[in-house]
Amino acid sequence: MKKLVFATNNAHKLSEVRAILEPEYSIVSLAELNCFDDIPETADTLDGNALIKAKYIHDKFGLDCFADDTGLEVEALGGEPGVYSARYAGDANCAHENMCKVLDKLGDNTNRAACFRTVIALIQRDETSYFEGRIDGTIATQPRGENGFGYDPIFVPEGYMVSFAQLDSDEKNKISHRALAVQKLVRFLQKK
Ligand code: IMP
Repeated sequence: MKKLVFATNNAHKLSEVRAILEPEYSIVSLAELNCFDDIPETADTLDGNALIKAKYIHDKFGLDCFADDTGLEVEALGGEPGVYSARYAGDANCAHENMCKVLDKLGDNTNRAACFRTVIALIQRDETSYFEGRIDGTIATQPRGENGFGYDPIFVPEGYMVSFAQLDSDEKNKISHRALAVQKLVRFLQKK
């Protein structure tokens, strides 16, 4: 079985990826590596931050590794919050405050186009590859729904009348930015 580190401790992301890649690949989390380092995400692009995380683990442990980074990009805000999505309204990563900041800045702007973008960086045998998943949609005028996390209550995916937070997790995970990026990674790994 080939060993691959997923540089995350997010249980949901891990189970999503393991369900597809095991048993061919053994997917190892940061906690299982005993790595609790606060890896600084200092790049100003999603690709850059995904690479920083993957490279940190690859260099420290000498293991093949992949990492992801995600952002919500709002067209009328020039792509904000983008790479700063987690801490848009401050260091606390408070979903409610982050959503309020987006809604306040947008005001009654009629251009509400937005997308979620996930980039995965994979370092395998010293070779780096990137996989991107993107879903387009619009920003609602107020939060709706209880499911999901982050900006889900204000993001309405294209072709839907409801927000991500009003979809159940199975439904969201079929169409989400992260699922699309993971599918590309999986297709790449399965061809190897
Ligand atoms: P991360 O790179 O996956 O940690 O995501 C960074 C930030 O983007 C999170 O803290 C959330 O605020 C936001 N985010 C990422 N993925 C999603 C999603 O699927 N729905 C809503 N917000 C998300």
